[in-house]
Amino acid sequence: MPILSNHIQFPSIGYGTYNMPDRETALAVKNALLAGYRLIDGAAFYGNEKGVGEGIRESGIPREEILVTSKVWNRDRGYEKTLSAFQKTLSDLGLDYLDLYLIHWPANTKKYGASAIHENQETWRALEELYEKGLIRAIGVSNFLPHHIEEIGETAKILPMVDQLEIHPGWLQKEAVDYCQSHGILVEAWAPLGRMTMVGDETLISISRAHGKTPAQVSLRWEIQHGILPIPKSSHVERMKQNLSVFDFELSEEEMKALDNLPPMGGRCFDIDEMDL
Ligand SMILES: NC(=O)c1ccc[n+]([C@@H]2O[C@H](COP(=O)([O-])OP(=O)(O)OC[C@H]3O[C@@H](n4cnc5c(N)ncnc54)[C@H](OP(=O)(O)O)[C@@H]3O)[C@@H](O)[C@H]2O)c1
Repeated sequence: MPILSNHIQFPSIGYGTYNMPDRETALAVKNALLAGYRLIDGAAFYGNEKGVGEGIRESGIPREEILVTSKVWNRDRGYEKTLSAFQKTLSDLGLDYLDLYLIHWPANTKKYGASAIHENQETWRALEELYEKGLIRAIGVSNFLPHHIEEIGETAKILPMVDQLEIHPGWLQKEAVDYCQSHGILVEAWAPLGRMTMVGDETLISISRAHGKTPAQVSLRWEIQHGILPIPKSSHVERMKQNLSVFDFELSEEEMKALDNLPPMGGRCFDIDEMDL
């Protein structure tokens, strides 16, 4: 199981909560926890943090056994705004600490010019302060490429412990993954199933058949064998369980390479430096 640079142990797989209305989220999170997930990935942007908190309470599972993630949204970047956004997230969740807080997206120079770097550094300074106060057990970033991490590193006291990136067969982001892993930063995969848009791929289908597994399970296994922590989302209990059942088979080196070498496909395959966020 992955261990962060500050020695906190994470499970090998987490549960995503994007694109679920608030009213459905409580039941989904409760079901996910009862199915065995212990890492819940959320964000202020998803608009359902009240539901996440309700689901946690309704599960009856002790708070300290669950790892809860949130992210500061783009309009809340900067030192003061991040501190306020964090308080709103805690209050919506009904919790008194978070296990992991991430900067959702870096400000990029295409949109913010020369001030982008300062903006990211100031957002990071707020996360460091919250971490030092004991309000967050681990801090990190999301969608940060190596150069964004280097830029916050110029003023940081603490380096990110996690980088959450879009990763699925057809979008490995190898350069960013290699950079993170060589700097002790745990990589989490968002859209680890590519939002199920690359499931018609012949390579993925034939590897799945060879193992008697689904393309979703093979995708998750491929990420885990790369040392990456996937956070699949499903509103269906059977799929939640299916996505956890990925520890009874192993992909060969050849199969791993075949999946590594798929052309860009599935999910969003964003060019982060070109985004208008
Ligand atoms: N940091 C970021 O910028 C960022 C961006 C996007 C997402 N995220 C996080 O990453 C999480 C996962 O990403 P995602 O939700 O975009 O995509 P995903 O997990 O790759 O795919 C979710 C989709 O796959 C379906 N699905 C799940 N398991 C399945 C299975 N075993 N068989 C068939 N279909 C299955 C789900 O449908 P059903 O629900 O109907 O089962 C849903 O439509 C999010 O929920 C969120 O927490 C982070």
